[in-house]
Amino acid sequence: MVDSHRPAWLETAVFYEIYPQTFYDSNGDGIGDIPGIIERLDYVRRLGCDALWINPCFDSPFKDAGYDVRDYCKVASRYGTNDDLVRLFDEAHARGMYVLLDLVPGHTSEEHPWFRESQKQQRNEYSDRYIWTDNAFEGYSMPFIGGESERNATYILNFFKCQPALNYGFASRDRDWQSATDSDAARATRQAMVDVMRFWLERGCDGFRVDMANSLVKNDGDDKPETIRAWQEMLGAVKKDYPESAFVSEWGTPEQALPAGFDMDFYLDWRWNGVPNGYNLLARNVDGPLNVEDDKSYFSAHGGGSVRPFLDQYLPQYLKTRGEGFFCFITCNHDTPRMAPRLTDRERRVGYGMLLTMPGVPFIYYGDEIGMRYRDIPTVEGGYARTGSRTPMQWSAGRNAGFSDADAKALYLPVDPAPDAPNVDDQMRDSGSMLHWVHDLLELRSEHEALRAGADLTVLKAPEDSSLFVYLRSSRDGAERLAVVVNPGLNAQSFELPDDVHEPVEVLLHTGNVRTDSHTVRIAGQGFAVMRV
Ligand code: GLC
Ligand code: CA
Repeated sequence: MVDSHRPAWLETAVFYEIYPQTFYDSNGDGIGDIPGIIERLDYVRRLGCDALWINPCFDSPFKDAGYDVRDYCKVASRYGTNDDLVRLFDEAHARGMYVLLDLVPGHTSEEHPWFRESQKQQRNEYSDRYIWTDNAFEGYSMPFIGGESERNATYILNFFKCQPALNYGFASRDRDWQSATDSDAARATRQAMVDVMRFWLERGCDGFRVDMANSLVKNDGDDKPETIRAWQEMLGAVKKDYPESAFVSEWGTPEQALPAGFDMDFYLDWRWNGVPNGYNLLARNVDGPLNVEDDKSYFSAHGGGSVRPFLDQYLPQYLKTRGEGFFCFITCNHDTPRMAPRLTDRERRVGYGMLLTMPGVPFIYYGDEIGMRYRDIPTVEGGYARTGSRTPMQWSAGRNAGFSDADAKALYLPVDPAPDAPNVDDQMRDSGSMLHWVHDLLELRSEHEALRAGADLTVLKAPEDSSLFVYLRSSRDGAERLAVVVNPGLNAQSFELPDDVHEPVEVLLHTGNVRTDSHTVRIAGQGFAVMRV
């Protein structure tokens, strides 16, 4: 059932994530805006991306960069108007592009009118829209807040203090104040979120990235059965009318997110208490965003080793969900330290080579295509350590890196002051730039059936004792087979292709220094190659 609802356009889609605050400021007030995104659509399209994910652009007090929504149906005035957003949908569609907005279903801002009503002692329509205890002195095993409202109760948080949890009910209940998932209150919350999705889909939006999608139903255990059920109901309702709309979850567990009805789930960069997940094993196997020395990630030339630890995590999840939707790689996102400068240009080229040729729908975070650098800078809008990944896009070597005409002091965040800070203009002119490398990878991806999101993956080589990783991507009908060779380590590697490859082997794209001699392939250290076999 889920499969039949998956929009066909995802097979070839490549996403570009835009943090609207810092992409392009069209009116010189120091902050990015929607008309600015429209002005730069052609750039994104030419890079090879045909879909956008835009971080929340709705009315908000911005205590968590807009993930604290005050009005789901109103564009924040600093970004423009609802009409501007509709124009963005239209302009994108005219270029064959799609736009996903960011849905934050688990919580609102404490300034949302629903919450203001909910805080009143007098019962009203919104009293149970959030999760309240029944006494101002009652706590619970989840973060809660007391003493802020007239209502004689405490309320449960979903994330920061400014983000009270919406009430989707409790899967298992141990207090009287907890709603069941089939209660009127939980049903009303689900309906409200369906209405929000419909509001934007009706105006031309193509779907949503869904924030903390696994957080809805409380006490739902590790398997999340009730959260899955809630999404099946909500996405089922929406997809009935908008079958071509696409949904990607911030969940990180595709065997739950895809049966829940999502088309795609992110392979996330979560690292709790020093314990890396799979993405970290690839790109950031170290604490701290700037720590180069100790980085044991696979893409690191010095620290990395075998790709096996990554495959041990990734492959079971991939194989279990193959055909049900996509498990998506990101270059980075607004919550994640950029790979630069921790990983060098060479390391990132090999890394992007792999991320952009694996199965699933890839997501490129704005600026990663030119190697924008994470910096340790003071927090803005609840960014904390994430702030350094949210700095203004570097378009040119000109004023404010071409991001804005405003006075530098008025910018949302300072631009990278480094004299050698990368920028789009320079890299456009340099055919050997990272921008061209990313463009070439995406062009290759778009030209080959074997690199479609759902095309097959078979591991050919993943030795324990070296950094070599060779995999086969094959088109559904088996007519096209590409071998992808990844070697992030410093030493050259040789290997034999399987006996059944067609000769001569044609190298389609590479970082330099790949040699084939009949079935033997030799790839230099820090090398990447794609070949038809
Ligand atoms: C998600 C967002 C993050 C936000 C949090 C709370 O993880 O990506 O930026 O702070 O949810 O909404
Ligand atoms: Ca602006």
